[in-house]
Amino acid sequence: MTKHNVVVHADWKVGTINRHIYGHFAEHLGRCIYEGLWVGEDASIPNTKGIRNDVLEALRKLSIPNLRWPGGCFADEYHWKDGVGPRESRKRMINTHWGGVVENNHFGTHEFFQLCELLDTEPYICGNVGSGSVQEMSEWVEYMTFDGESPIANWRKENGREKPWKLKYFGVGNENWGCGGNMHPEYYADLYRNYQTYVRQFGDNRIYKIAGGANIDDYRWTEVLMSKAGNVMDGLSLHYYTIPGCWEDKKSALEFDEQVWAETMAKALHIDELITRHSTIMDRYDPVKRVGLIVDEWGTWFLPEPGTNPGFLLQQNTMRDALVAAIHLHIFHKHCDRVRMANLAQMVNVLQAVILTEGDRMIFTPTYHVLEMFKVHQDAEALAIHGSFGGYEGYGKKMPQVTVSASIKEGIISVSLANLDPANAADVSIELRGASASYAASGTLLAADDIHAHNTFEQPNRVVQRSFDEARWSDGTLSAKLPPASVAIVRLSPQ
Ligand code: AHR
Repeated sequence: MTKHNVVVHADWKVGTINRHIYGHFAEHLGRCIYEGLWVGEDASIPNTKGIRNDVLEALRKLSIPNLRWPGGCFADEYHWKDGVGPRESRKRMINTHWGGVVENNHFGTHEFFQLCELLDTEPYICGNVGSGSVQEMSEWVEYMTFDGESPIANWRKENGREKPWKLKYFGVGNENWGCGGNMHPEYYADLYRNYQTYVRQFGDNRIYKIAGGANIDDYRWTEVLMSKAGNVMDGLSLHYYTIPGCWEDKKSALEFDEQVWAETMAKALHIDELITRHSTIMDRYDPVKRVGLIVDEWGTWFLPEPGTNPGFLLQQNTMRDALVAAIHLHIFHKHCDRVRMANLAQMVNVLQAVILTEGDRMIFTPTYHVLEMFKVHQDAEALAIHGSFGGYEGYGKKMPQVTVSASIKEGIISVSLANLDPANAADVSIELRGASASYAASGTLLAADDIHAHNTFEQPNRVVQRSFDEARWSDGTLSAKLPPASVAIVRLSPQ
């Protein structure tokens, strides 16, 4: 077993891990909104104002800081006026982008804010640039946030909401290089300038405007956006999915060998290079880092489960997804000076979901457990780390065997670890330097005897968190034996 010596500097804070890095994304796609979250007030599934109680309760435990909605690609086809007013008379239409099913618009603006209130999470709305108008976007912002007399604000009141909502995060389009309009960056940069002008700041509501950013390694997009519109944006997005194989030839979520496991790890680690290079471009235009890099879509993308509508993007979730989640979160922490928000795609029943539902049943995925374990990092101060993280080779790449992140909040130090190696345990020794207190340790581990392990409706507790008894704390050093393909968190509380 390779020994890794790591030093965590308790007295060297490198930045705040913005809680919004733990954001989520819910799109009108497959069974995410309908069935996964919204069942309607008359459903037999217990619900609160139409939103299913089991899912609500589970999501509340994640302390979700923000929720992005209504898309995704759906956002640039969404016309918000179709989704307000009496539900029975809302327009029915085909969700042409995702599976060709009927969208009855029963979940609209009011229902979304209701969901955010129930989750105690901040709304992040993505507006329509691709097929909408400046007026439509402007009126949506007015509908949601204007506390005064106007036909649009009065319409909101007629629809049952007297006071405006608080809305901070607003995206001006989505993937405008692709499903959001197939635009060139120069054209979108000008459109962004135009649209964002009418995203008004009403009263004391302050909107943080997010421009549609690059796909993966499209550095030119970032360059053009920053040079032409950097001064009128607060955030610039980046989308990156971990796709073993390639876009045209995706692989199964459940059937993979150690080579494909390695490929997945390497591709998850690639987010580090992407953030570094996009940030370097942003630094040239914004050296004080005023503009945040908003990774508002990330996660695994596999083949849809056999027998399901391919447009629904339903996939299972194994220990491999747990590792992908841990790797991404560690890298976001590392770049917390520039990465101010990230949104896992997606919340329920779509891509790397934290929850899967079937009728009135619900299961937690391994990814859910990672987010639950890591939530202690939210708004904590990231601590400097250095050391040897070992070697794991596969897919023609040399990778670290372990990735580590540490943070401090209210005196408690949290150290999270991930062992990427599917076959070998990792022996990690973490020395805590610069600490003025003595500590007691307690840890939680997510591991399984098979890298394919996952939860099903028949076996919902195959992958669960357990106490990490293999972690020992003595004389300022934490010794941890991480099983192959595992994720852990150790909390050091001052005594
Ligand atoms: O998350 C699924 C889709 O992936 C989103 O709708 C789109 O923005 C991205 O291409």
